Amino acid sequence: MGEESVIVTRDEKGKIHVLLNNCRHRGMRVCRYDRGNTSFFSCPYHGWTFSNEGKLVKVPKLDSAYHKKLDPSKWGLVEARAHVHRGTIWATWNQDGPSFEEYMGSSLFFFDAFIGMYDGGEGEWEAFGGIIKWKIPCNWKFGAENFSGDYYHNFSHSSADRVSFSPSGQKGRHTYDPVTRAEAPYRLNIAVDKTGHTALGQLFKGDHDYVPIYQEMPIVEEYFRQAFYKRREKLKEKARWFPHHGTIFPNLSYSRVTMSIASWHPSGPNETEVWRIFLVPKDAPTEVKDVMRHYAIRYQGPAGQTEQDDMENWLYAHEGSRGSVASRYPFNYEMGIGYEKRNWPVPWFGPNVQVTEGITEQNQRSYFEHWAKVMDDGPGQGDDEK
Ligand code: FES
Ligand code: FE
Repeated sequence: MGEESVIVTRDEKGKIHVLLNNCRHRGMRVCRYDRGNTSFFSCPYHGWTFSNEGKLVKVPKLDSAYHKKLDPSKWGLVEARAHVHRGTIWATWNQDGPSFEEYMGSSLFFFDAFIGMYDGGEGEWEAFGGIIKWKIPCNWKFGAENFSGDYYHNFSHSSADRVSFSPSGQKGRHTYDPVTRAEAPYRLNIAVDKTGHTALGQLFKGDHDYVPIYQEMPIVEEYFRQAFYKRREKLKEKARWFPHHGTIFPNLSYSRVTMSIASWHPSGPNETEVWRIFLVPKDAPTEVKDVMRHYAIRYQGPAGQTEQDDMENWLYAHEGSRGSVASRYPFNYEMGIGYEKRNWPVPWFGPNVQVTEGITEQNQRSYFEHWAKVMDDGPGQGDDEK
């Protein structure tokens, strides 16, 4: 969470805990593994031991050195407030802040559309290959901004677009390219007022049909064809929304293109540690999982092509922005100002949603407007004057 290391545990009763990975004695990490199964975390430094609920359960020499004066109930691991939503775990250090639903506001519909199963059902995703983690020398907001609404940078991916890159092996970069060509849906940018949350996606104009994508892979084609009709039957009118990307303020982005979630963890202002997971439907045939995995590797894996294009832009833009002369000049964020609509005729988008069709910087403006407000309102404001 940000620059803090946390341990996510499931206790004996099945409850999820998000615990600060710092021993309360001198701060040593009590867990240094990415995953595993344990009931206790024993600190390697002096042996304080915590349960997987974060309680301090053993202190060496509690009697002889602390003379029984230490109260272990006051020295458990610091616990964040956690919330589980459709298998995703969200946490905050703020015990009194808004509920998850309040925090998400109208962006919850768009996030749910992303995390919803292909058939609109109650199935489960599984993450393949663990979490891909890497560091890039740029500010963490580059990624968050890019995924919040940048439909403009196709130019950057033109080499990927020229090769047969899509999951089906057809020309183009995206799963949805054939759908877009066949159906010409609205391409919409969604900004949720005063939250910084944004989404991008396609809204089909009415009753639309399945567009064959995987003609040369019958099992895969049949899987997605059936899922399409089941989803439409279940979600009805709402199946018209086909999610692409989005950013949940401040640092989580999702992409339905490769079915992945990225956290942009700040390592100070000049470095970002990206964590990305890729999801496949747990009960899908192996052929489907393979196609999705291979596509994700081509698109965003360590040897992929698309995320690499993006990162090259972010890190040089970051480097370029740091000069004393460069930092005197503002960037241009004026694209599409005045073309935002509040009366988009889709009531299930929810309240406080601003929509712009096509290519715009509406979402980036909304993201940074909220960022500026949070920074102005945050603790520490005015410290410089003191
Ligand atoms: Fe953990 Fe001392 S730092 S027991
Ligand atoms: Fe990109």
